[in-house]
Amino acid sequence: MPKARRSELMSKRVLGYVNWHRGRKLVHRRDILDMLTRDIVERKPDHIAVTGDLVNLGLPEEFVRAAEWLHHLGPPDRVTAIPGNHDAYVRLHPERGLHHWKPFMVANDEGEALVSTPETAFPFVRRFGDIAIIALSSAVPTMPFVAAGKIGSAQRTFLASALATLRQLGLFRVVLIHHPPLPGQASWRRGLRDAQKLHDILVANGAELILHGHNHEQTIRELDTATGTATIVGVPSASEAVEGRVPAARYNEYLIARAGNGWSCEMIGRVVASSPEHVWEFERRTLKVG
Ligand SMILES: [Fe+2]
Repeated sequence: MPKARRSELMSKRVLGYVNWHRGRKLVHRRDILDMLTRDIVERKPDHIAVTGDLVNLGLPEEFVRAAEWLHHLGPPDRVTAIPGNHDAYVRLHPERGLHHWKPFMVANDEGEALVSTPETAFPFVRRFGDIAIIALSSAVPTMPFVAAGKIGSAQRTFLASALATLRQLGLFRVVLIHHPPLPGQASWRRGLRDAQKLHDILVANGAELILHGHNHEQTIRELDTATGTATIVGVPSASEAVEGRVPAARYNEYLIARAGNGWSCEMIGRVVASSPEHVWEFERRTLKVG
């Protein structure tokens, strides 16, 4: 976290700043993130999806540092990012904030050809062969001590038709959202305000895989939908120190392939271990999709 100027703390940020120096800086550590990042890059995945949060207080310099990190992960056509609640912590001129991540938050030509991005910029669609990523933004500025999110009616309407279109084409649909998408997965203060409406859209239109962050916890939920089972995976933080939860920092790798008329999807969880600190394969399991 960069040093904040006094004028930059005249907002909700002051609470977050105190919070950070009182303890969060011991929990979220750059060296942990770097270790995990090195492992991700070395394993050369076809694509990397980042579900936020990328910054803490929304200081302009944090956005630049996060952009550097995204570029380090890979070129924008191989890395997709969406914002989290901290990435909309305070209202900031886009040029000083999310604009820095723009190359990672736009459709690719193949996705745009199928589903054109609405004026709201989200959701956007990226297509890579048989796989389509539908990226939502649940990031909205909130009152202090509130970490809630919302996708809103415009994104919801668009999502429903995008899911239907991509289904007709027989693609594997991966939905990215920062907040956990189902009702009850987070408290009112921290949850997605329109979770019930999103749930209904997912049930009616289906999706194969839904990836989220926010809760800093590994969770797997299966949702029965009109097109089969959608598996919803929450990933822990990528920077959480080992002294916190065990295991703490983690990312998941997904191996997706066609299998008969459907799909196979294997998830590999890679986590940071202590003494000596290193990254190892903690879990490997087959997910139910379709
Ligand atoms: Fe969050």
